[in-house]
Amino acid sequence: MHNKTILITGGAGFIGSHVVRLFVEKYPDYKIINLDALTYAGNLENLTDIEDAANYTFVKGDITDEGFINSLFDEYKFDSVIHLAAESHVDRSIKDPLAFVRTNVIGTMILLNAFKALWKDDFADKLFYHVSTDEVYGSLGETGLFEETTSYDPNSPYSASKASSDHFVRAYGETYGMPYVITNCSNNYGQNQFPEKLIPLFINNIINHKPLPVYGDGNYTRDWLYVVDHAIAIDLVFHEGKQGDTYNIGGFNEWKNIDLVKLLCQQMDVALGRDKDSSEELITYVKDRPGHDLRYAIDASKINKELGWKPSVTFEQGLKITIDWYLNNEDWLNSVTSGSYQTYYQKQYS
Ligand code: NAD
Ligand code: TYD
Repeated sequence: MHNKTILITGGAGFIGSHVVRLFVEKYPDYKIINLDALTYAGNLENLTDIEDAANYTFVKGDITDEGFINSLFDEYKFDSVIHLAAESHVDRSIKDPLAFVRTNVIGTMILLNAFKALWKDDFADKLFYHVSTDEVYGSLGETGLFEETTSYDPNSPYSASKASSDHFVRAYGETYGMPYVITNCSNNYGQNQFPEKLIPLFINNIINHKPLPVYGDGNYTRDWLYVVDHAIAIDLVFHEGKQGDTYNIGGFNEWKNIDLVKLLCQQMDVALGRDKDSSEELITYVKDRPGHDLRYAIDASKINKELGWKPSVTFEQGLKITIDWYLNNEDWLNSVTSGSYQTYYQKQYS
């Protein structure tokens, strides 16, 4: 396997930090450059264990800054990009859709152009890996699964911006012969997730005896995957996936929100040594999210059959690892929930 110089964007975020760690530790001969703007969601504390590794460099910068991105590609001559940088939270996209167009659509375009400009005469051994979401497929009814061939039908500004970026990546493949691969993954959970998403937000609220705001009737369904299993899938697709192809990644693990929240409450009561049912008493039904997708569920049989990938932990195991991590990393949790998080929380939930 020849040495590579890989740009990982968004590597200080939740999933990106797990991908960076896996690549830095597993491939000492690769040069890994982590580019991240360190928005509210990016945190170098996620990577202190590998920050001094010889094959790792962090660069602070914004993917929407075209001049900066072009000079970065000139300097490092990246032969591969694993693109995770994005605005990633649906609720924020409802309040500020344009920010999602800027980063997720225009930022992706700027990366695609820089990659094309560098290699257009010879794309051999090059790869643009675009990390996307199952939300581009829209909402399922009570039955059925998202397959790689399911038509795109995004409903939120977040999913519309991710769908748009997926289309541009495919268009660059078709039009300019740019080698790419796209993965569409279901909801991730695990250590280092910013506490605006369901699981870490509820863990933080349970710790602090705050209400657990369940949107609508709680009968919305998501398919949950442990973040390290997503990073393992990305490694596999990066090295063995078919160029110009798409793979769905999912946990084979559908949960109605309210059932998941009850399981989380039970595990938190045990972990915190609190009375049985004390966390469940915090459940509060609140106004629904506008345009709330009813159900996401992934058919991950293609990546399973073609590349032999499957999740390595059960949901109960992954949830326990996650809860233990948040309880043992109080400083991390306190630092990300101070300052602007409080303002966000007030606006979103008051
Ligand atoms: P995240 O919000 O935790 O992290 C995003 C990272 O991107 C942050 O470190 C942030 O600082 C950085 N970033 C944002 N705007 C940037 C910009 N303009 N320039 C440079 N860096 C910027 O997100 P995540 O949950 O880790 O998601 C990562 C990727 O995976 C996203 O593309 C997302 O769409 C996709 N995805 C997420 C999930 C999920 O459940 N979280 C599921 C499937 C796919
Ligand atoms: P979220 O973690 O935001 O992921 P996504 O919207 O990308 O699936 O939300 C997961 C589910 O939990 C979704 O159906 C919305 C719901 N939810 C709540 O009920 N309350 C909350 O406070 C949050 C953040 C989400």
